[in-house]
This record gives sequence, structure tokens and C-alpha cells, in this order.
Amino acid sequence: MNGPIISPSILSADFAKLGEEVRAVSEAGADWIHLDVMDGHFVPNITFGPAVIKALRPHSAKHFDVHLMIAPADPYLAAFAEAGADTISVHVEAGPHIHRSLQAIRNLGKRAGIALNPGTPASAVEPLLDLVDLVLVMTVNPGFGGQSFIPSTLETIARIRAMCAGREIDIEVDGGIDPETVILAARAGANAFVAGNAVFKGGPAGYSERIAAIRAGAASMGGGPLSC
Ligand code: DX5
Ligand code: ZN
Repeated sequence: MNGPIISPSILSADFAKLGEEVRAVSEAGADWIHLDVMDGHFVPNITFGPAVIKALRPHSAKHFDVHLMIAPADPYLAAFAEAGADTISVHVEAGPHIHRSLQAIRNLGKRAGIALNPGTPASAVEPLLDLVDLVLVMTVNPGFGGQSFIPSTLETIARIRAMCAGREIDIEVDGGIDPETVILAARAGANAFVAGNAVFKGGPAGYSERIAAIRAGAASMGGGPLSC
């Protein structure tokens, strides 16, 4: 996809009416829907699993961007694929056999993503670039919405952008993205932008305006194809 991809994270949505929330952000201009799966083990919070994603699937035709913050991930990959995930991202820190996980995702017919925490160097994903369609750079430590963007991640984004040259790989950022920080992330080389609080805080009446503001910030860094 050319131009910025905006992927609202339903972690900040009203969990009592998730179907309605997914429909509302889809109609408000989201490109993808970001689904944060947390296990209370890899990260200190618990959210939802494949059954919830499956239940949400009929509510939107948008690309389901599933971010697994679980360890181990491998036993659950097929369930997330069957639930309707389009991209499945696993963390490089989450297990000892990351090639196996990424190959398994592609064998399930899904796009494979590799995620890395702010404390993990860009070099950790370098050997994996032939196996992925997306690199998910965490710009906060995963576990919670509403945290502040960590500026040192900009260098990680830039390094990964340089490493990806010549490949069709999306570089996605996740955590503390708002109409200001999105500019920094786009300038560093990201082309896909997760936003939880910055989209959902304030309720559905503002979804389209807030998505548009994030898109405008990202697009201000250039109008051409942003993926590497
Ligand atoms: C954090 C999650 C994010 C989170 C982002 O662990 O991976 O997707 O929802 O939320 P904001 O945009 O509020 O930082
Ligand atoms: Zn996420």
C-alpha cells in the first residue's frame, strides 16, 4: 500500500462493545485494525485471544493486524490464522526458535511480522528479513496503552529502514503515536502507524478526525510510497 497505513489499536476501545468499536473505526478511515493479544506472562497484562478476534471478524473487512505479546506463540498461531488474522506478528524476544514461528505463519497463508521491544537492538531482526512482511518496532514497552513514546526508538526505526532497502517490508510503529510523534516516526522511516489512545480517547464522534490528523502527520513526511 502506498502512503501511510493507520492501524487503530482496539486496546483503547470500549471492551463492552468491541464489535461496534471495530465497525466505527473502520468507517472512520482506519486502514488496518490492530489487535493486541497479551498473556500476562510475556507482558504484565491480559487482553483477549482468538475467540474474540473470530467474533470481531464479521464486523469489518479491514486488514486484521494481530500483535501477539505471548510466549510461547507457536501453539496458538493456527488458531489466530483461523480466527481471521491477516498479519500475525510475534516478538523476537518471545522464544528461542523465531524462524520456526515466522515460517509457520507464512505456511498458514498469513503475512508474518516480527516485533521488537524498545530495549532490543535493530540487529536482532536483521537475520529474519527474508522471512517477514512487516517489522513492528515497539515505541513503548508493550503491555499497556497510553504510554509515552520513547525517542531512542527512532534510531532503531532508521536502522531497520536502511536494512530493509530493496525489500517489500512494512515498518510499523506501536506505542505513544499521536499527531506529533507520528511525524518523527515517519521521518525515521516507518510507514504503518498503530494508535490506541490517540484514536479512541474521547469516543466515536472524533474517530475520523483523529485518524485523519495522524494520517496528515505521517503524510507530511512525503507523499510517495513509504514501504521499503
Ligand atoms: C502496547 C500495545 C499497543 C497499544 C498502543 O503494548 O502493543 O498497540 O495499544 O497504545 P497507545 O497508542 O495508546 O500507546
Ligand atoms: Zn500493539
